[in-house]
Formats: sequence, C-alpha cells, structure tokens
Amino acid sequence: MDDHMDYKIKDIKLAGQGERQLEWAEAHMPTLMLIRRELGMSKPLKGLRIAMLLHVTKETGVLARTMAAAGGEVYLGGSNPLSTQDDIAAALASEGMHVFAWKGQTDKDYNDNIKTILGSKPDLIMDDGADLHAATHQKYKNLRIMGGTEETTTGITRLKAMEEEKVLRYPVIAVNNAYTKYLFDNRYGTGQSGVDGVIRATNIMISGKVAVVAGYGWVGRGVAMRLHGMGARVIVTEVNPFRALEAIMDGYGVMTMADAAKEGDLFITATGDMNVVTYDNMLRMKDGAIMANVGHFDVEIDMRTLNKKAKRTKQIRDHLKEFELSNGRKVYVLAEGRLVNLGAAEGHPSEVMDLSFANQALAAVNIVKNGKSLGNKVYNVPEETDERIAKLKLKSMGISIDALTKEQKEYMTQWRYGT
Ligand code: ADE
Repeated sequence: MDDHMDYKIKDIKLAGQGERQLEWAEAHMPTLMLIRRELGMSKPLKGLRIAMLLHVTKETGVLARTMAAAGGEVYLGGSNPLSTQDDIAAALASEGMHVFAWKGQTDKDYNDNIKTILGSKPDLIMDDGADLHAATHQKYKNLRIMGGTEETTTGITRLKAMEEEKVLRYPVIAVNNAYTKYLFDNRYGTGQSGVDGVIRATNIMISGKVAVVAGYGWVGRGVAMRLHGMGARVIVTEVNPFRALEAIMDGYGVMTMADAAKEGDLFITATGDMNVVTYDNMLRMKDGAIMANVGHFDVEIDMRTLNKKAKRTKQIRDHLKEFELSNGRKVYVLAEGRLVNLGAAEGHPSEVMDLSFANQALAAVNIVKNGKSLGNKVYNVPEETDERIAKLKLKSMGISIDALTKEQKEYMTQWRYGT
C-alpha cells in the first residue's frame, strides 16, 4: 500500500500503465473532452475542493481530470470495495490529485477514506450511490457544502427519501435522470458490462442457457436484451405489473422468483432492492446455478444467509465462488454478490460513460453557478443540457439529423386541421 500524505493507493509505480489507459479512454470520450476544453478556459471550479466518490475507473479518471482542468482540487475515493482500477488511482495521484482508493478495500478502509476525503472540507460532492451524501448528513454534519451531484438510481432513491424527510442540506442534481444517462448507461452500458463481468468471471457459454433477470428497469432491460442476443432464453421477474407486461411483450418469460429459481442456469439481479434472491430460492436452484448482481449494493442476493448456511465454500478462481448448500447442491456467486460489471470486469465502456460524465461535469458547474438560487432539493439535469449532450455526441459520431421545417413546427402547435 502506498500511504502518502496526499493519497492512499495500491502502488504509485502503476502510474505509467494508468496514463496509457486514460489516454485510451479519452480517445473514446469526445463529448467530455470537448467540455474539458471549454471548462479549461473558463475555470468555473477555481479555488473549490471537489469530493468525488465514484468507481475509480479510467472513465472516472477522465472526469476527474476534467474537474481538475476546470480549476477544482480533486479528492477522489472509490464507491465500491472491488471497482477501483489501481493503475488509474496511481496515475491520478501522480498528477497531484488526492486519491484514497484501492481494489479490495474493507468496510473500515472505505469509511476511513470517506473521513479523509471529507476532512478536506469540500465545497462540492460528486457521488455514486449517495454514501458520501449520507455521510455529510450523518457523521459530518458541520461541513458547509454548496451542493452535489448523484450518478445512480439507488443514490437518487436515497436522496429523494432525504428530501421527503426534509433533511437534505443542499441542492443535488440527479444525473441519473437525464435521458443521456439512463437510456444509454443503464441500458446499453450495464447490458454490455454485466454480461462481460459474467463471462470474465466464468467463461461460460451464454447461448443455450436459461437466464433469469430480476428487475425490468433500464438496467434489467439492457441485461435481458444482451443475454437474449447471445442466445439465452430469458426469464424476467418483476414486482411492477407494467414492467412485467413490457417484458412479456418484449418476448421474455415472466414468473415469480420462486418459480424461476427452478428454471435458471444464470441469475442476474438488477432491482436496487434487498433479498431478491433468498436462501429459499437458492435451495430450489439446479446444481451449478450461477448468481450475479448488477444493482448498486450487494444486498440483492442474500449473501448473509448463504454465507451462514452453506456447508462448504471454495474459491474457484477470481470472482467465482462455490457454495455447497444444505441440500448438497452447489451454486456459484460472482464478485461476492457485488456489482459484477465493475468487480469482475471494467464497468461500462468509455463511449457510454462519455454521456454520463458529460452530465456529471456540467451538473457540477451548474451547482457552482446556480446553487445559491436552488433549494435543498433533488433537481434534474436541465433539458437544454441534456439535449446539448445528445447533440454533441451525435456530432462526435459524424451523424446529422433532420430539423423541423417552419411549416412542420407550426403544424405541431395547431389543433384545427385533422383529416
Ligand atoms: N459505472 C459503471 N461503469 C462505470 C465506469 N466505467 N466508470 C465509472 N462508473 C461506472
């Protein structure tokens, strides 16, 4: 461990490798790079400390560099014990950022790092999952925070609960709610990286398997779509009747988890809620069934009961653990039931994080510029910002789209002409 005054990371000697990875990511994140060039000139974050608790990947590195180019002093921690890419942490630390993250952190490390990051008395909070926001509302209440951003569905659910209870102490922009975030990152990002995580951890053949996807929100849809595309027969479990109907009409089977448990070869949870796969469900599973999670926290598969009740466990290889159940059958869990796409793979590809992190960067600047006029509420990314990001992305892809003619615009605002 490299424990330095300004950073705590695995090994600063990994910086060279991290630099090359960052270069690769930057080449695939044209929207964020354009925003970096703009912010690099206007320096809206000058003199501000930015506390970021995100998955420390090469894409987050590109965002952190953007915040630094905008004039901010970056304090960065990892939002998940398994997701930090140590070479990226090293590269960013070697550039002068205050990085407190390494792969394989314990819960205590995690809380210590939050303490250090918040000890910098940050002005802005950029979070993924709302643990940093929760900390500024519980243990570290004396900080004067201008406002913050939040990346993910789970984080926004928590922040909305804080708003509802009237305890939220500063404005937060819900990056996840932008079209240019959830339609792409949640669906195509997790769709690809979730399946990538399963394959890297196991190298199983997806084709011919029965895959059970728990939850048919944007993440579940993306995962189901990609598994189906690779030849799996997909079963969806849901609690929401509209989503269940959508899953049926998209061509999947829908049933309860208790029934699906008997059918599945592979289970992927994507609900954001706890105990979606219970130990009772596991007892009904086939010998050899594999379970993985792509929801933010490691609560969706009941690991606590599984760890308690399993007769024997065996680590087969990295991120693949065997559990012998009380009925003698063996089931497998990937990446400890944590986000498999970030634990066993590298998270979403740069191209899609380009959109999410363009939103993060502009949301942070928005808070700095307009925070004083905002209440202590959860705000969406302004529509103009969302649309601008979509247009910039299309432009970077060399794609032009049509524009409404004057006549078409007028037609859309009238009600007199029908058939
Ligand atoms: N969340 C999902 N994929 C990610 C990535 N590549 N970087 C940061 N956060 C992520």
